Amino acid sequence: MHASAEADARHLGARNLVCTAPGGQWGEDDILVDRADAGEALTLSLFHLDRGSRPRWLLEWRPRRSLARAVRGWERWARAKAARTRAGARARSRVKGRTRAKVAKVRAAKGRGGKGGKGKAKAKVVIEPHRFAGVFVSKGKDDSLVTRNLVPGESVYGEKRLAAEAEEGEEKVEYRVWNPFRSKLGAGIVGGIEQMPVKPGAKVLYLGGASGTTVSHVSDMIGPEGVVYAVEFSHRSGRDLTNMAKRRPNVVPIVEDARQPQRYRMLVGMVDVIFSDVAQPDQARIVTHNASFFLKNDGWVVISIKANCVDSTAAPEAVFASEVDKLRKDGCKPKEQLTLEPYHRDHALVVAVYRASKKKKKDE
Ligand SMILES: C[S@@+](CC[C@H](N)C(=O)[O-])C[C@H]1O[C@@H](n2cnc3c(N)ncnc32)[C@H](O)[C@@H]1O
Repeated sequence: MHASAEADARHLGARNLVCTAPGGQWGEDDILVDRADAGEALTLSLFHLDRGSRPRWLLEWRPRRSLARAVRGWERWARAKAARTRAGARARSRVKGRTRAKVAKVRAAKGRGGKGGKGKAKAKVVIEPHRFAGVFVSKGKDDSLVTRNLVPGESVYGEKRLAAEAEEGEEKVEYRVWNPFRSKLGAGIVGGIEQMPVKPGAKVLYLGGASGTTVSHVSDMIGPEGVVYAVEFSHRSGRDLTNMAKRRPNVVPIVEDARQPQRYRMLVGMVDVIFSDVAQPDQARIVTHNASFFLKNDGWVVISIKANCVDSTAAPEAVFASEVDKLRKDGCKPKEQLTLEPYHRDHALVVAVYRASKKKKKDE
């Protein structure tokens, strides 16, 4: 198996890897299978080599389905997606009566970037504030969630950038599109969560920062007055996170295990919010342990729960209920629970208040 492919898959969470390629030689289109024993249940995750370099997480195989069927399902989906993309491109050039080359020229003239949002962000768009401070909506054929880019001119993970129309004499403001499929917090906002403690000026402890996809949007939301301490224990993801933080002064990257908050207590001040997305079976304990170090009384806990990371044999609703119970026992008063379908299957976002004061309790 190709060593760097294996290392990448491990950083994506794979533990016990088996390569399906003949002779264990990792090549394009091969699938890497991760066997992870979670208690009694066996979960298999598939990884796929992405354009010859990094494996991409494909799907998680549930013991109920056959592995071959799961792979076939994924291949069908990928083929249909590719066909839709091709058909869409053909239809667009037919409608406009232009060849592909002409379409590309028009795009360039409009100042739109090519793939991955790496080009200049000059397309004119209308942006409206979302009901949560620090979040905006780009109005168009399909509305999309955006945050105001703290570092104009730069994308973090290839996301699209949009320049809003400005009044005469005003500077243009740039926004970054926030894809709810790539972020639990983004999915919670699009899904209609009612309270959002991550707001301009907030101090946030973010557990499970990964490469910084959502952390970067949190950084946009809190703005220059806020700070986000992002904890991530994978060194590879931590490297990306640290590089991203070099351009964003309100991000403090911490490459450490969130189970050991005493190791980073010198770096983190008291915070208003803990956001956690560590996808670990003991996440509730990790969060309340960090809360006892860093979260002020009446501070907020926002936690993304992936049901099958906690117990892959129980019904997701039962897992969510037992996790909420653990939080409650450790001083968190649950306020809200929201499922993240259709963006993240069998995930829920839970919002709670830590050590709610009596006065606040009465007010509610
Ligand atoms: C689901 S991913 C987080 C994705 C990220 N929140 C985002 O939206 O961009 C979970 C991350 O938590 C990290 N993680 C898991 N256990 C951890 C621990 N004990 N301490 C710190 N990070 C941990 C993993 O390495 C992984 O990068």
